[in-house]
Amino acid sequence: MRSPLAFFFCVCCIASEMCKGESSVFLQVAVEVPSYAMTGGEATLGCSFHLTGTPIYSIKWYHNGTEFYRFVPTERAHAISDQSSGDFFVTEVFRSDQRVTLSLSRLKPSASGNYLCEVMAEHPSFLKEAVAGEMTVLREPLSPPVIAGAQHSYHSSEEIEIKCHPRHASPTGYAPVLHWLLDGRQVDHELVRPLPARRPQHAPGLALHLPATQVVAAGGSVRAECRISLGPHARSHSAFTTLMVTDALHIGPHSYLSAAGLSTIFGCSWACVLLECAVIVLLDGGSVRI
Ligand SMILES: *[C@@H]1O[C@H](CO)[C@@H](O)[C@H](O)[C@H]1NC(C)=O
Repeated sequence: MRSPLAFFFCVCCIASEMCKGESSVFLQVAVEVPSYAMTGGEATLGCSFHLTGTPIYSIKWYHNGTEFYRFVPTERAHAISDQSSGDFFVTEVFRSDQRVTLSLSRLKPSASGNYLCEVMAEHPSFLKEAVAGEMTVLREPLSPPVIAGAQHSYHSSEEIEIKCHPRHASPTGYAPVLHWLLDGRQVDHELVRPLPARRPQHAPGLALHLPATQVVAAGGSVRAECRISLGPHARSHSAFTTLMVTDALHIGPHSYLSAAGLSTIFGCSWACVLLECAVIVLLDGGSVRI
């Protein structure tokens, strides 16, 4: 984000140098407005500006054309007409001579719309620049997705297949993304497969295909998480299920590392011993140590 902006400023600087004589005042403005936020939630708005040749007269923010923030350096107190807006509350979280960052909180759906930052230079030029961004405040937060097809327990020879689907239709214009995680780690691409959407307006699902032996290798039980998110800046929601492989449960979550120890093998059926051997072989990459 920063470097293209810097480049832009640079190009403008050169341009303004070339135009010297006509006017030595140069003003450039850029905004950061999140494309969506949740009802009741928060959004951070950023306005960066670059003004040369004259001081700033005012910085203002407008929502759908209505001013809700104003900073005039020459005036002692700066007015934030926040409470007057029934759509959100405003807090100034940062201000410098190059940037203003605002936090909008307690967002209502009516806080959707156009957010415009306007910067004006001092007299005599009163040069003005304004840049806007659009934000949509979603009425309903994303619901955790739905996991289907999970069994109470699995056999170590099985291929585990579970499905995950969004619970609700996607908000217009947004495509939620699903991810599978095992014990908090995102799974490899080869373990997941896309599923068709269950209903129109629903985002596609995502299936997890996992050989039960991988659960055995992880100690006989893993926590599977299906996570839904609208994007990197949106809060995600998850559904969980525990995948258990019963014929491997006697192997404690970490004991497989020392499974060659007699204590683990004692009191175990031959089937288990064989299974442990298989695990050890897998873990040791083929070198049997028993
Ligand atoms: C602002 O405009 C958006 C989009 O047109 C609309 O959804 C929203 O309700 C408007 N809010 C106000 C307070 O005008």
